[in-house]
Amino acid sequence: ELRGVVALDGPSGTGKSSVARRLAATLGARYLDTGAMYRAATLAVLRAGVDPADADRVVEAVRGAAVVQGTSPDRSTTHLDGEDVGAEIRGPEVTLAVSPVSAVPEVRETVVDQQRRIIAAALAEVGGIVVEGRDIGTVVAPDAPLKVYVTADAEARARRRAKQDAASGRQADLGATLADVQRRDAYDSSRAVSPLRAADDAVVLDTTDLDLPGVLAALLELVDERG
Ligand code: C5P
Repeated sequence: ELRGVVALDGPSGTGKSSVARRLAATLGARYLDTGAMYRAATLAVLRAGVDPADADRVVEAVRGAAVVQGTSPDRSTTHLDGEDVGAEIRGPEVTLAVSPVSAVPEVRETVVDQQRRIIAAALAEVGGIVVEGRDIGTVVAPDAPLKVYVTADAEARARRRAKQDAASGRQADLGATLADVQRRDAYDSSRAVSPLRAADDAVVLDTTDLDLPGVLAALLELVDERG
């Protein structure tokens, strides 16, 4: 059983979503996909017809949107203004616009506040939650007893992302996916507010040569050591 927060950060395509969900299910804990919340906020911006580069109007659109993120590890749902948008937020339009939207400081403030409330509610209810994103160990939950920074070679990450896309029926081109993964990582790592980086006290886990069960086993060992 997990007490407290496990913070899982890292770039896209490391397999951290799948493993975070499985880790939470194994530990009887909740699971929070923070990227899904930024994606839903981005969908709200696009639906409002707002240019993702227009920060003031982006903030307005995000503050006016009702994003509800479920924390069940078996069925992590995302709703925008009452509508299930779980599939749409994985599409190319949102993926292209999510980095600039999530780089706006007031957007992050709004979303991080909501994330902290979700985490507090989950801890009160079941005592443990696995939280996955880019700034969990550094900003959202800096007191988490276990922080893991999950990495992998860019090419391995592009391969995983393309496979995921193909499995969900989306067109998958390896070269384009690699370019997208690298573009997003560069953007997320270089933004002024809450850039993607490992917390000083994070354990770095390289998953290039590990399969999903291997990553899960490594994480369970870390939980055992720290918990
Ligand atoms: O994890 P996922 O790939 O769904 O995240 C989508 C985008 O949301 C990231 O590329 C990043 O720009 C943003 N994000 C963030 N902070 C988080 C989680 C995601 O800025 N904690």
